[in-house]
Amino acid sequence: MFQNVTFAKDDQMELIKKRGELRVGLSADYAPYEFEQTVNGKREYVGIDIELAKKIAKDLGVELKIVNMSFDSLLGAMKTGKIDVIISGMSPTPERKKEVDFTDTYMQVTQRMIIQKKDQKKLQTAKDFDGKSIGVQKQTTQEELAKTELPNANVTSLTRVPEIIMALNTGKIDGLILEGPVGEAYLSKNTNLAFSKLEFANASKGTAIALPKDSPKLLNALNSSIKEVKEKDLIKDYKKKANTLMFEDGSFFSKYGTYFIQGVGFTVLLSLLGVVFGSLLGGLFSFMKLSSNKLLKAIAWIYIEFIRGTPLLVQVFLVYFGTTAVLGLDLSAFICGTIALIINCGAYIAEIIRAGIKAVDKGQMEAARSLGMTHKQAMNKVIMPQAIKNILPALGNEFITVIKESSIVSVIGVSELMFNAQVVQGASFDPFTPLLIVAVVYFILTFGLSRILGIFERRMSVSD
Ligand code: ARG
Repeated sequence: MFQNVTFAKDDQMELIKKRGELRVGLSADYAPYEFEQTVNGKREYVGIDIELAKKIAKDLGVELKIVNMSFDSLLGAMKTGKIDVIISGMSPTPERKKEVDFTDTYMQVTQRMIIQKKDQKKLQTAKDFDGKSIGVQKQTTQEELAKTELPNANVTSLTRVPEIIMALNTGKIDGLILEGPVGEAYLSKNTNLAFSKLEFANASKGTAIALPKDSPKLLNALNSSIKEVKEKDLIKDYKKKANTLMFEDGSFFSKYGTYFIQGVGFTVLLSLLGVVFGSLLGGLFSFMKLSSNKLLKAIAWIYIEFIRGTPLLVQVFLVYFGTTAVLGLDLSAFICGTIALIINCGAYIAEIIRAGIKAVDKGQMEAARSLGMTHKQAMNKVIMPQAIKNILPALGNEFITVIKESSIVSVIGVSELMFNAQVVQGASFDPFTPLLIVAVVYFILTFGLSRILGIFERRMSVSD
């Protein structure tokens, strides 16, 4: 008794009130319970658990602070006092109850096995999973479930749910276990996946809030908030809100739109730099190739043939690694990508310019010279003005080509359109939509540009 008085730590409630802030730990990889969304341009934590946390903070009369971490570090964080409670779709289990207390459950759930749609016929019962690999989140009840109910399967435990989904998508695992509502959320974004018919015998059925032991005041307060939530059927509203955030039409764009916009900016910038500086380089090399100096001619010839005879992908890597390994320079990926594009464009543009000049009728030079012009005068006043009319349209086409080709510099991590599409592929767990979007964006860019060039060409032919 005496000992109890001496060593009894404060009810966590006291601490929360004193601080004026409730620290809720969760793992925001669990739509519709908790996930990240951009709301009115701001990244926010949203979901059923977040709404519940907001209500509880309000009931306690304190501010709310969300602490996002991996699910397997939540219990430790609470034991070390970094967070006050855990609201993270956590199910009360006997093992956990040894360490922490749980409130009454606020939601009832089922456990589901998710598989690839093409395996739906093959993987229907526990036996079908013998020898198969099952993905689960580390230190969850799903991990336990896989080990006890599918003893002949190989269990792979990963830290974050998206990683497990990716593993299934790429065929690294054959199935994964998730809470029903979470499974539905991910299935909606991954149409190649489906639920298996498999049913678990002893699956955990509810989720509750975890809190430190020996905090009866906090436990009571939490339970009375939960009671009210149940009486008013608030979970239904929370779920609805989470669902609209998850499935909102504009949500993909409000979340990832900035990636695409930034990507377009870089793609256009890269292409412009490539074409503008490539033109300077190309101009130089075309004149070298046209000159009567054998050495200049040879250098130009080697450059043009080498660049046109090797893939841009190889050139990009050569510049990227070569500048460091051979030249000892520490250039950014963007600079390397730009240099590679300029060098590449230079060769093609050199040929464009040379062909443009060559296409001017020989008689033009002869006529100009017979009028008493020097070779230089004839070039500047007679040949070039006509050559430019041949060159400009081809240069426009080169620009269109570069817009598409610049996607290759994504391999070294330049955040242009293609690279950002790959980022969104990872972030949205949806490999297809981002690709579709960039295809359309590239098309709009190139088609728009070719229309604009068409207008210019028509203007030029009118001036003839
Ligand atoms: N209900 C399961 C458990 O208690 C999984 C919860 C996972 N939660 C999360 N936010 N990832 O272990």
